[in-house]
Amino acid sequence: MTEKGGALFGYTDLYGGYDGGQAQYVRVPYADYGPRIVPDHLTDEQVLFLTDIFPTGYSGIDWGEVKGGETVAIFGSGPVGIMAAKSAWLRGAARVVVVDTLQYRLEKAKATAHCETILWDNDAKDVVAQIRDMTGGRGADVCVEAVGFEPDRNLIDRAKAVINLEKGSPKVLEACMSAVRRGGIVSVLGVYPTTYDNFPIGQFFDKGIILKGGQAPAHKHIDTLLNYVAEGKVQLDDIITHRLPLTEVSHAYDIFKRRVDDCVKVVLDPWK
Ligand SMILES: NC(=O)c1ccc[n+]([C@@H]2O[C@H](COP(=O)([O-])OP(=O)(O)OC[C@H]3O[C@@H](n4cnc5c(N)ncnc54)[C@H](O)[C@@H]3O)[C@@H](O)[C@H]2O)c1
Repeated sequence: MTEKGGALFGYTDLYGGYDGGQAQYVRVPYADYGPRIVPDHLTDEQVLFLTDIFPTGYSGIDWGEVKGGETVAIFGSGPVGIMAAKSAWLRGAARVVVVDTLQYRLEKAKATAHCETILWDNDAKDVVAQIRDMTGGRGADVCVEAVGFEPDRNLIDRAKAVINLEKGSPKVLEACMSAVRRGGIVSVLGVYPTTYDNFPIGQFFDKGIILKGGQAPAHKHIDTLLNYVAEGKVQLDDIITHRLPLTEVSHAYDIFKRRVDDCVKVVLDPWK
């Protein structure tokens, strides 16, 4: 056990060294605590994302204290960002805007989460300006960071990281802090593993930004979210783009990592 004060399945020795679930069989410790009984009328694919990305996306919105009427900007249109967009509607957001560098991912967000979209084409300033334009100059009430420490980066960003001995870049988090309104909430779902120089602490203080984030507390939300699925209030399996057998796991990770073949979410089926 590490000093993290917690353990996660499939997250290497960083969090307890427990294997993940990508196998034909899994031994589940504390089986009276973790698993849930799935109603008979739901298929495996309908509930699959309750184990990670849906509670994660929902946590971003919960940390954002979305109660109804807010403008929510979500950076990252991967599986987590799209789940955050779906969650924002469930919590009564008035507007949901999703930002990404890839048009095909934005198309997926539009089709499955019915949100507005912004293409991060050039630099963060354009995106922030567009969010300000959309909100009468005010900024979004809540910004959700669903990209993490490995955003698309140019050579200068990469060189900066080497000089500062940093892993990746916090540029998307910085954009969230610029795009949020004064007194707004920035909710960080994307993973950041190290410290970063030049973190905009001055902006944090000046705007009175509330910053929350961390590993999503899936158990806190799973029963509520299972009910949403069972009642048909939300659909999750519409983000699946690929269904592959476990024998093709390397190819599956490759297309997801390189974001090719319009890949958004792969389901691995050990019985295929
Ligand atoms: N907090 C948690 O408990 C938790 C749980 C699961 C996943 N995560 C993390 O959430 C993050 C997102 O996960 P995912 O599965 O959706 O990953 P993903 O890599 O599929 O999605 C990230 C998206 O960000 C986009 N992107 C890259 N640079 C960008 C930029 N500059 N501006 C806007 N978008 C940009 C990519 O095109 C991609 O669509 C990852 O860091 C992942 O590790 C956190």
